Amino acid sequence: MKHIENESLREAIIRRTQWPYGKRDVQYQSVDSTLPGIRDMDHRYEIMNFPETFEGETVIDIGCNIGMICIDAKRRGAKRVVGIDYRPETIEVAKKLAKELELEVEFYTFDVNDGLDVLKDLIGEEQFDHVFALSIWGHVDKPTLANLINYYTKTLCWFEGHCVIWSNDTKSAMEVEFENLLDFDYYEFLGETSDRSARQNYKLSRSSRVIMEERNKQVYFNGDIYKTVRGTYVEDNHGEPSVPEDVEYYSYKGKFCSFIAKKGDDYGYKIFIQDPAHGTDDHEEKKSRVEKIFKIQNILHEEGFAPKAHEIIICHDDQTFYYGIKVDNINGKFVETSKDWQDRFANVCKKHNISRDKDSFDFKPNNCIEQDGKIYMVDIDVRWKMA
Ligand SMILES: C[S@@+](CC[C@H](N)C(=O)[O-])C[C@H]1O[C@@H](n2cnc3c(N)ncnc32)[C@H](O)[C@@H]1O
Repeated sequence: MKHIENESLREAIIRRTQWPYGKRDVQYQSVDSTLPGIRDMDHRYEIMNFPETFEGETVIDIGCNIGMICIDAKRRGAKRVVGIDYRPETIEVAKKLAKELELEVEFYTFDVNDGLDVLKDLIGEEQFDHVFALSIWGHVDKPTLANLINYYTKTLCWFEGHCVIWSNDTKSAMEVEFENLLDFDYYEFLGETSDRSARQNYKLSRSSRVIMEERNKQVYFNGDIYKTVRGTYVEDNHGEPSVPEDVEYYSYKGKFCSFIAKKGDDYGYKIFIQDPAHGTDDHEEKKSRVEKIFKIQNILHEEGFAPKAHEIIICHDDQTFYYGIKVDNINGKFVETSKDWQDRFANVCKKHNISRDKDSFDFKPNNCIEQDGKIYMVDIDVRWKMA
């Protein structure tokens, strides 16, 4: 964080972004080591597991105060960042701070109690990848705030309650409120911040949780809860799958998609983590690609060459939104295919006008798994086309 040298800005931060206003001799959020607030943002980020990157994503912070969440999301690559708070003088300072830091953040004065229609007129109707609602729940009309959160959250809502003692925002009390007012399939308790008072932090998601390792640390999707065990990725799918005996969950990470499954389950999940050459940020485009893959895979399944695709799933990690498909879990060994198998496979593809990459089909299928004497092509991905 760049040190804020501008004296009048420093003074304004301390005097005009307090909460409750005028009752402290210091601002609410810490800005840097020379401007500590009554909330320690570093501590909060650690408890929340604040994402390392927001690359290409959109963020809104409801009750943003001086806007440190907005500023840090922008510094971590967010595409559009909006901060709203009902105190005009606080918003004025937030704007000045972002300007000083040369960051483009939209700050608006807005009273949560004015409701969704007023907010839509102010900031537009587009949803956000991340909605932050931290220590604001108890200051406003809850159903009205819940309505904003439910409407604007595309994938994740980061939520902090208030002091367990003053507000009775205990974990169980919060969870009852989530059930009653918030429209999420899943909430994850992240931990309790202790910089101000014991405050519960949650991540609310529209879908369930999967943990993958490396870049995609946490992937959420509308299936069961899955855990991937460190060290079970097979980067190069030639040879036998090296799933250790003692793991329950496993995954393969290909160039264009990852497959995750639980040993012995009937189904697994193929998630399309596209490489930059095929990558797109456009959700509609991602959706139409996965629909195409789904169709191709089921044609090849009916011809006896691929596992069945059951349904399209939506998933996301802390950073990116993906589509995937729920597919039959093929528990077998990777095998080299015979010339005869390859010819039959190529003929079926020709019959259905299916090809891979540059309209050609003169490649040697690599990712083939044999199970019960039958060979399945498993890596049908974004490169595949059907005329
Ligand atoms: C406890 S502070 C939390 C600030 C910030 N969300 C955080 O956790 O660091 C509450 C914030 O909510 C804002 N606030 C209170 N009532 C509000 C309302 N009706 N509409 C919008 N903002 C409000 C306050 O101005 C203040 O900045």
